[in-house]
Amino acid sequence: ANVHEELFHEVTDDSEPKTHHKVTIVGIGAVGMAAAFSILTQHVSSDVALIDCFADKLKGEMMDLQHGSNFLRNAKISASTDLSVSAGSQLIIVTAGVRQKEGESRLNLVQRNVDIFKGMIPKLVEYSPDTTLLIVSNPCDILTYVAWKLSGLPKNKVIGSGTNLDSSRFRFNLAQRLKVAPTSMHGWIIGEHGDSSVPVWSGVNIAGIRLREINPNAGFDEADQENWNQCHKDVVSAAYEVIKLKGYTSWAIGLSCADIASSLLRNTNSVKAVSTLVKGIHGIDKDVFLSLPCVLNSHGVVSIVKQKLSDDEVAKLQASANLMDEVQRGIIF
Ligand code: NAD
Ligand code: LAC
Repeated sequence: ANVHEELFHEVTDDSEPKTHHKVTIVGIGAVGMAAAFSILTQHVSSDVALIDCFADKLKGEMMDLQHGSNFLRNAKISASTDLSVSAGSQLIIVTAGVRQKEGESRLNLVQRNVDIFKGMIPKLVEYSPDTTLLIVSNPCDILTYVAWKLSGLPKNKVIGSGTNLDSSRFRFNLAQRLKVAPTSMHGWIIGEHGDSSVPVWSGVNIAGIRLREINPNAGFDEADQENWNQCHKDVVSAAYEVIKLKGYTSWAIGLSCADIASSLLRNTNSVKAVSTLVKGIHGIDKDVFLSLPCVLNSHGVVSIVKQKLSDDEVAKLQASANLMDEVQRGIIF
């Protein structure tokens, strides 16, 4: 008898362990690994599969995380270049693809990343037919539309990480000015994750006191002597600046992914700004994905908050929708 047989009476065969919160991360570059690390260290999932086409780096990242499993409540970490490692995932986070070089816009990446998606999205859904897809690769809103088309999944199950990140950057910028925690600073960025994002100034508040009750010009460029709109301008330039300084962005988007994953896997009904199909909302008549505040639970996006927007905010959102539609019409599927 070997040590295992001497030590244990076997009660049942668990060679195929079952979990109900498996997360697959496709693409283990800067963003994918930041998402994996945030999800594991926050115990959002204890069953994480990694996929990439770069076999050596993949094995190295898997081993490095496994060596920390002593500190991760014995989380299971698997990895393969074969998409079948994702089988049975509740959530698949897609971060694979090219990223911007210094000064390059997100929209510039579109066809290169569409081509990567064509090779993987249908197969991923075959292995996990009940999964929710969380799309992070850029341009995030367009690729969420592409993933929805390629996957055949219902619209509630295909989500873009969207402006959950931009809203976090916005709250940080506002919070710094008022010396409060970003979680106590309520402000939403909606629309495109990127250059045409829309700050909802009409709703920015602390403890229910709206900024515009005190400064009616907050967010208006010329009229506002305090220049609050700089807090949004800094959101739009944030990624460009970080990419110029360190080559890529990673930690904030990794944390944002874990935040969204937590709502989906723990069925929390939390409201987050994520990219969802917005046709029929705020006068948008096109099949485009943009971020709006969404209620998230184990079904994915269960509802979208009917925000009271000003005419100006609606016009900006519609302009983002037209831009998405224009780019989508140029995509070769
Ligand atoms: P990266 O170059 O560090 O990593 C990308 C990874 O994708 C690489 O490991 C590469 O091998 C892998 N990959 C490429 N093609 C693949 C394929 N066919 N199958 C499997 N793996 C494949 O890039 P990054 O910095 O991690 O960024 C990844 C993406 O995320 C980029 O598109 C970037 O613009 C985007 N991004 C989005 C947000 C957001 O808020 N939505 C934030 C940051 C970055
Ligand atoms: C971001 C990426 C580059 O950090 O979209 O905003």
